[in-house]
Amino acid sequence: KKIAVLFGGPGSEREVSVKTAESVVAALKSKGAEVVEVDVTGPDFEVPADALIAMNLIHGTFGEDGQLQAILEERGIPYTGAGAQSSRIAFDKGRSKEKFIAAGVPTPRSQNYLLDGSQPLDISIPLVSKPPREGSSVGVNICRTEEEWTKAVEEAKKFGKDTLVEEFIEGKELTIGILGDQVLPIIHIEPVEGFYDINNKYPWMTGTGKTLYHCPAELDEVTTKRIQDAAMAAFKSCGTEVYGRVDIMLRHDNEPFVLEINTIPGMTSSSLLPKAALAVGIDFPDLCVRIIELSLA
Ligand code: DAL
Ligand code: MG
Repeated sequence: KKIAVLFGGPGSEREVSVKTAESVVAALKSKGAEVVEVDVTGPDFEVPADALIAMNLIHGTFGEDGQLQAILEERGIPYTGAGAQSSRIAFDKGRSKEKFIAAGVPTPRSQNYLLDGSQPLDISIPLVSKPPREGSSVGVNICRTEEEWTKAVEEAKKFGKDTLVEEFIEGKELTIGILGDQVLPIIHIEPVEGFYDINNKYPWMTGTGKTLYHCPAELDEVTTKRIQDAAMAAFKSCGTEVYGRVDIMLRHDNEPFVLEINTIPGMTSSSLLPKAALAVGIDFPDLCVRIIELSLA
């Protein structure tokens, strides 16, 4: 079967996508698939007419935000992962939060803050400032002082006219993979220093960070179930399907707060979804095949 692997993209996560695609291409080949690699930099890309499916491995702008999905739908090409409309919602941290809240899923209090300073800041420091439509922690700043907030505002201007400001939740960083109807074991992410920023995520890229991963996370049964239920409810609230990864903060009093959904989660050698799948006996090549099968179903 011929699979077109779409990778790259024009956004800030291009390098991560290249790495993800390297792993996935090798895995698909090990399963006997014929793979055609398509480096996508914008809307003018070509998928071979005899390909069974487009495997979308483009993180962030264009690939994860519904644009690519809409083009593939228009061309009648089957593709992996969530549909165009749900991808659009899930990728936008502000819009997805509205869905979480409507579905009763706990999420940190937040404000869409306009960077022209025309409105008061409603969230008190410490807070987190995030570009509303980015991934891999690009542009994310935890601000514990006024000075840090002032600096974060300046940095946020590089990304757009607004920033998503969230109350800072002190606690454990967790992530939960979703594969079809299955909620995978929770991963507790423990960066050796700081938070799970781009350095701690991709040591192969930056050569600096270091992170410990605990899977399954050491949590009691009741807490585990609550977190997994919150992850699935968050995933469903945006209408997303097939697979994904939900990032959660577990506050010190064991209250979970859903931060966001990733509909094209990283699949590099250090990535999280493959670790969680492996914990239930699904190895990397099998995971890639499952994603394709679930997408075609
Ligand atoms: N945005 C990155 C690729 C992730 O969520 O894994
Ligand atoms: Mg993300």
